[in-house]
Amino acid sequence: MNPKTINHALQPAAKPRPGGDGVEPPREVSGSENYRPAIHYTPRRNWINDPNGLLHHNGLYHLFYQYNPNSSVHANMSWGHASSTDLLHWEEHPVAIPCDEEEQIFSGSAVFDAHNSSGLGTVDNPPLVAVYTSAYTNPSALAGRQAQSLAYSLDGGSIWTKYAANPVLDRGSANFRDPKVFRHTQGEASYWVMVAVEAQARTVELYRSENLTEWTHLSSFGPANATGGVWECPDLFELPVDGDPDTTRWMLVVNLNPGGVAGGSGAQYFIGTFNGTTFTPENTTTAGTDAGTKPLRQYDWLDWGRDYYAAVSYNNAPDGRRIMTGWMNNWDYAADVPHEPWCGAMTLPREITLTRHHGVIRPSQHVVPEIDNKFKAAAASSDGPRVIQDEIQLLATHDANEAQRIDAVFTPGTGTEFGLIIRGGNGHGTRIAYNTSTGCLHLDRTKSGVVAFNSLFSSIESVPVHLSNGTLALHIYLDKSSVEVFTADGLATITDQIFPLETSQELSAYANGGSATLDSLTIGYLS
Ligand code: FRU
Repeated sequence: MNPKTINHALQPAAKPRPGGDGVEPPREVSGSENYRPAIHYTPRRNWINDPNGLLHHNGLYHLFYQYNPNSSVHANMSWGHASSTDLLHWEEHPVAIPCDEEEQIFSGSAVFDAHNSSGLGTVDNPPLVAVYTSAYTNPSALAGRQAQSLAYSLDGGSIWTKYAANPVLDRGSANFRDPKVFRHTQGEASYWVMVAVEAQARTVELYRSENLTEWTHLSSFGPANATGGVWECPDLFELPVDGDPDTTRWMLVVNLNPGGVAGGSGAQYFIGTFNGTTFTPENTTTAGTDAGTKPLRQYDWLDWGRDYYAAVSYNNAPDGRRIMTGWMNNWDYAADVPHEPWCGAMTLPREITLTRHHGVIRPSQHVVPEIDNKFKAAAASSDGPRVIQDEIQLLATHDANEAQRIDAVFTPGTGTEFGLIIRGGNGHGTRIAYNTSTGCLHLDRTKSGVVAFNSLFSSIESVPVHLSNGTLALHIYLDKSSVEVFTADGLATITDQIFPLETSQELSAYANGGSATLDSLTIGYLS
């Protein structure tokens, strides 16, 4: 089979808009377009799910993703493509790797093959190589199988060509998918490592290659910890602990569906070591590892909300940064959410670091400064501490049509529960509150607005939180149909979609069972 050229050049430059491309004419704000995020990536139209092929190359962040080019349902899986210089303004490009009559293009990763180890480019023009799962369909001779395949680009990511000898790694399995490939250098040795899942068996399979086309099995990890659903979209990377380059740990991310801590899709992680062959988890994490017998809340989760899934990280991000993005959705109800004609969004990109907290090494997550620093405080900032006593106090109205960052610091008083109600009014609103008896931060979206489209959507999330210096500091990124809450210096996060009523524009603080003090409040809008 000759290689097939399967795409066109990137579209002519147009000014990208935050969260999406700038190439289409201004849209009517109507129907569910009201909910189209301002700062989260969405395609102009049609279905997306997992982020794929996250790669920084030549000054551009490439975001590929599971995409149906034809409609708003999960089908015809292909790799859509967008790029950005700053992780905020995205330009949507034509489909990078389309499905065909023999295969769907499932999730995977992309690397810069700098030394042309694959021979798919030249030494002078080394290729970008995408490693994806071929989900074979009739009439393929491999129909029903999932195996790993390559596509490559010689022009920096716009035109992709499928490798003629695909697949490159076929175990004869129907559930072998989602390869994350990275370059591993250890002493004198340097080679490609792939982590992929045997989804039903709940294992991560590690492979090694010198050239991306031939792979040797290294080891297996799992089943371990949360195993209540299929394992999908793994990732493995090394990070310094507390910024010390001499003390590092490896983080293995395993997304699973269902069986996540908040119900449905979720992203768990393991901290440990990787010796070039085997990943070994450490028993220093919250739960250690076991065979899936403990309550889900004792395992380690990247996010405790309902809408942070298929989270994986960028290869080659500058300065050793580790930046992750997830699909902001949940397979429990993704088909029913009021998204049209765009259908699905990515979470804000987060930078991950490792930190020792009470003797336990844990990831700390922050929205990347490229986005975070763009929020400038607006007039609604509070003018000093205010005590809230068994009541709801209106603080401000906040704009339903703009993304915003809300920062609030609370000191507990005698109340058992206190927090904020965002996008509220007339009994509606999303509650983000700390409960002093459970020691948990809760996000309650049961009255957040439109919730009835699927019976599984209405939910209350909760994450254990250690107060720092006796206070609760909330950083809330609110977009038109989502809320991402970061607290405890990034040790706890909750990501949830919400579909508020247009008229719900009140921001309030409340306390139940006594008092709490709101020490400060800032609403920042994009500058
Ligand atoms: C995760 C997932 C992957 C698969 C892709 C198909 O959401 O199920 O395992 O590759 O989506 O779209």
